[in-house]
Amino acid sequence: MGTKWITGFIVACAALTLWAQQEEGRNPYTSAEDVAAGADLFGKRCALCHGADGSGGTGPDLRRGQFRHGGSDAGLFRSIRFGISDSGMPRLGMPDERVWQVVAHVRSLSRSAKEIDVPGNAVQGKQLYLGKGDCSRCHTINGVGGRLGPDLSDIGWLRSTRHIKSSIIDPDQDIDRRYLSLHILKKDGQAIQGVPLNEDSYSIQLMDLQENLHSLWKRDLDEIRQEERSWMPSYQGTFSDSEVDDLVSYLYSLRRKTDQP
Ligand code: HEC
Ligand code: HEC
Repeated sequence: MGTKWITGFIVACAALTLWAQQEEGRNPYTSAEDVAAGADLFGKRCALCHGADGSGGTGPDLRRGQFRHGGSDAGLFRSIRFGISDSGMPRLGMPDERVWQVVAHVRSLSRSAKEIDVPGNAVQGKQLYLGKGDCSRCHTINGVGGRLGPDLSDIGWLRSTRHIKSSIIDPDQDIDRRYLSLHILKKDGQAIQGVPLNEDSYSIQLMDLQENLHSLWKRDLDEIRQEERSWMPSYQGTFSDSEVDDLVSYLYSLRRKTDQP
């Protein structure tokens, strides 16, 4: 009887401590077992986008110890528990305890945080971006440039160097689905090409290659075709290997400041 009470008391204390830590936004699940369980979940639910070792892919490298949506325990919990809207980081629907375990694992990835070593020269990369590459024809950085492709102002936060590089030499890989190429043929014979903006049962909106906006009734169209291709040309061959490194280095350096805890 006595031991039962004592055990009960200890369990209650432990639960209370966990609760208190969670209330403060500190991770209550940080034991070696928690980290291991978190690593297992990471492999199943996160590796697809962040790489099995956390080094990134279409999602950011999680080993660098800097997080734009908050690097505190509470900040990481929020990103992983609720996802990040309009970003490709999904809401995964895991119980809180599991999320905390994943937080513990993510934390362990950046324990020995070091700035990722990017070969290339960012200053030269910027010149290639503006000059020979004419990348600003389709991309905006800090408010300047075209809109056919995604805004690159925060690309260094969003993606790994690996993804940035493959975007330049093989754009049809890992296309952001919001930018699949769209081909439309109207009943009057006019053809329009561009990227999709919006669609419902009756109408479709798109931006054409000259950045004109169109809103069309589907009943006026003969064909709507979407291809798994990017409007971005491949720059394989245009740039030497070291020029590609320069571009990657420049793009990876693009990270606007953030004041998330
Ligand atoms: C479908 C791809 C995808 C999956 C699956 C995914 N993520 Fe992400 N994640 C992203 C992208 C893209 C971003 C960048 C969002 C942004 O900064 O706007 C991101 C951002 C994050 C961030 C915030 C980084 C920062 O700088 O603040 C964390 C933390 C994170 N992911 C952890 C995880 C964990 C842990 C899992 C698995 C439970 C996971 N992600 C699953 C794509 C994904
Ligand atoms: C004709 C328009 C066009 C030009 C020119 C262009 N891009 Fe793109 N770019 C796009 C489009 C559209 C996408 C989105 C589809 C995709 O992933 O390829 C994109 C995607 C990207 C991405 C991936 C962005 C992400 O969020 O994952 C990077 C990086 C990129 N471009 C860099 C460049 C660089 C560097 C240049 C110049 C050397 C360049 N682009 C020139 C249209 C263009």
